Amino acid sequence: MAKSPSNEKSRNQSSTGETGNSNNSTKKQSPQEDNMDLEEETIFPLTDECHHYQQRKEVPWDIQKYWDQRYSIWTAYDDGIHMTDDAWFGVTPEPVANKVASDLTTRTPPSKTTIIDIFAGAGGNAIAFALSGRWTTVIAIEKNPSVIACAQHNAYIYGVSSQITWINADCFDYLSSQDSSIDLSKTVIFASPPWGGPGYRSDKVFNLKTMLPYSVQAIHDACKMMDSALYLPRTSDLRQIAKLAPPGEKVEVVQYCMEGASKALVAYIPAASSQEIDK
Ligand SMILES: C[S@@+](CC[C@H](N)C(=O)[O-])C[C@H]1O[C@@H](n2cnc3c(N)ncnc32)[C@H](O)[C@@H]1O
Repeated sequence: MAKSPSNEKSRNQSSTGETGNSNNSTKKQSPQEDNMDLEEETIFPLTDECHHYQQRKEVPWDIQKYWDQRYSIWTAYDDGIHMTDDAWFGVTPEPVANKVASDLTTRTPPSKTTIIDIFAGAGGNAIAFALSGRWTTVIAIEKNPSVIACAQHNAYIYGVSSQITWINADCFDYLSSQDSSIDLSKTVIFASPPWGGPGYRSDKVFNLKTMLPYSVQAIHDACKMMDSALYLPRTSDLRQIAKLAPPGEKVEVVQYCMEGASKALVAYIPAASSQEIDK
């Protein structure tokens, strides 16, 4: 396992080549290769908001539950995983991220070569997509500079940082401004948005129209020209999800469980045809 790169400097200066790759199927980079990659890669520096807690007493009370589950969330936690305090609430646990990545591998035709994780957070899903080896291009978009720094650092620990294109931006701006350069026929969108809003934990059925800050419709509108996979609360209103299907097509919904309990569902939505988009 890896040395813990506890800050950006140690990440750049690593001379051991021990990248903390916890997956034997991923090729470890030599230090030279790694440095060459880093020269081309935009590095987002860790900030004071990025933490690698080592003892429970350091952890704010409201995230101690997640810290207790740290090895279920990140098997390489001890190698120096960094998180902002808020990122713990939304990170996809590693076994779930790996299963979603594997399902996307089998569900998408080989003609799809790019995946864009539009709410990349601390990197749980983007790292799994890169580790799967399925994609020629993995793009991770995250608007919070501290969170993208954690994601990039965590990807480094898993040995895949240089296989991901990191974009610190608002994904809606990115998708609209990059419209012309994204090859819609080759691209799949993965979206794990924040689940804020009334009722996420208490309502029997989660209303995706009142999800904050973005309703499911707003997210779908930004991605519907491409196949998409939306990572949503397990109790999400299935009738609202069904309405996102293009005419004559179906949305598949898969529940992802850990230790017998669903953590989330993913709605796999085919791209709308160009006639539909013009309507
Ligand atoms: C639920 S978290 C994603 C967690 C991620 N899948 C992981 O495993 O770490 C949602 C993330 O979306 C980011 N976000 C919210 N609005 C955004 C936007 N408009 N563009 C890009 N990122 C955004 C938040 O800062 C947050 O980190």
